Amino acid sequence: MPSALLCVCGVVVLLAAGCPALRLLPDRYCLACLCNAASNCSPRIGCQQQRGHTVCGPFLLTADAWRRARKADRQFAHRFRYLNYRMCASDPECAAEAVSHALAHSASDCDRDGRITCKDFGILSRGGPAACRNSTLARRAADSDYFRVLEGCLLDVTAMLGEPSPPAGCGLSA
Ligand SMILES: *[C@@H]1O[C@H](CO)[C@@H](O)[C@H](O)[C@H]1NC(C)=O
Repeated sequence: MPSALLCVCGVVVLLAAGCPALRLLPDRYCLACLCNAASNCSPRIGCQQQRGHTVCGPFLLTADAWRRARKADRQFAHRFRYLNYRMCASDPECAAEAVSHALAHSASDCDRDGRITCKDFGILSRGGPAACRNSTLARRAADSDYFRVLEGCLLDVTAMLGEPSPPAGCGLSA
């Protein structure tokens, strides 16, 4: 894990040498809730067809998201170079990292609440990388059962662990 990790509003802010290169990765609670919403985190779910796409593994990872993750983070691509798409999707560690890097790549404030939170990652997971730029796609994603399960999971996490700490250091407005 990188040394400068701050936990903020359901995302991990990765600060690279100062502040300019700010990347937002879903934190582990967000990942657990994304997995929960996708498949109840079923490790042996395998592959299925969903809305015209093949999705595999507990996060219902698409081949496209796997490819974007490998392009966005060369270290990730190198570390899991022996795993093809299907193998990665079924491997909890590879799948979680693939989801993280694919989401970080297109992270933005999809629901326009002024923050990038796990809900934004949920909209991107469900609606695809274009969901934040297309209000029709964003609304459809936010109306899904997937998103309802995600919100319930995040409420449970907040009830257990409290509200995430406010941004520190450079914060999210950078
Ligand atoms: C948004 O997505 C919908 C559904 O895929 C599509 O029909 C529409 O053309 C898109 N709108 C824009 C502005 O890209």
